[in-house]
Amino acid sequence: MPGTILIYERTRATKYTDLVARLLPASAEYRLIPCATPEEAARAVAEAEILFCWRFPTDLFREARRLRWVQAMGAGVEDLVAAPLPAHVLLTRVEGLFGPVMSEYVFAHMLAHAQQLRRQYAAQAERRWEPFAAGRLAGKRLGVAGVGSIGLEIAARGKAFGMEVWGLARTKRPRPHVDRLFMPAEVAEFIAGVDYLVSTLPDTPESRGLIDPEAMRERALLINVGRGATIDEGAILRAVRSGRIQAVLDVFAVEPLPPSHPFWTEPGITVTPHMSGPSLPEEVAEYFVANLRRWERGEPLVGLVDRSRGY
Ligand code: GLV
Repeated sequence: MPGTILIYERTRATKYTDLVARLLPASAEYRLIPCATPEEAARAVAEAEILFCWRFPTDLFREARRLRWVQAMGAGVEDLVAAPLPAHVLLTRVEGLFGPVMSEYVFAHMLAHAQQLRRQYAAQAERRWEPFAAGRLAGKRLGVAGVGSIGLEIAARGKAFGMEVWGLARTKRPRPHVDRLFMPAEVAEFIAGVDYLVSTLPDTPESRGLIDPEAMRERALLINVGRGATIDEGAILRAVRSGRIQAVLDVFAVEPLPPSHPFWTEPGITVTPHMSGPSLPEEVAEYFVANLRRWERGEPLVGLVDRSRGY
């Protein structure tokens, strides 16, 4: 089932295209069109049957008359879900790739918080020999908001550290490594009950504003690796400034985070530039080509997005 594949990414379109070309069987007659700008994409979009993309200029979908499948290069697809994409066009996202690496980010920051690494480094810098009893993760309660493939990897590692793990999910289905599962209607008890609250939530109408940082317990740590729009930034600032919580934020309502934003200089907030779950072209191109083979065989695609759900 040969066709035209438009590959859109602002800085690595050629790299993705080379990787896909290398992974495709020699017999396939796909035409690959790398596009790195909206202008290039505008010239090619009408021919594309398949779109492999990140942050595609979605107004171009109006011209995409032949389009049948969109494969995102990442996990969060709020822009594509909101786009004028006809219902018959399949939408897939990357599912199952980012959990292990994002867990390492999350536990790096949880351990830094428990061990008070900043204090340890500061003492060394000043040649102060001042032993203190650091905190520990064992025995603490980890709350994972969003227990999809990423959240479950975080939950598994929480158990390995001897933590009690609570999960917040849309559906009651039991999840491995989750000691207690909460539904959105029970979110207040979930938030108030955990020492570490890690949000992996996608940006959907249901998730926006679901986590209230001002309702977290004293001395808890909030880590957001989902989407910035889901947690009110003013409320994070108030909760941190009151001394109630600290926060580690990898995602923001506006990215890049503007230099004038108060998060940058707030002592209780750690800012990182949306780097906890990087899309590595080698891995993501392989994921796409595996899905392409399923597509050729008429098999169900992996990472299929339910657009009514938003992810
Ligand atoms: C990154 O944030 C992604 O959604 O893959």
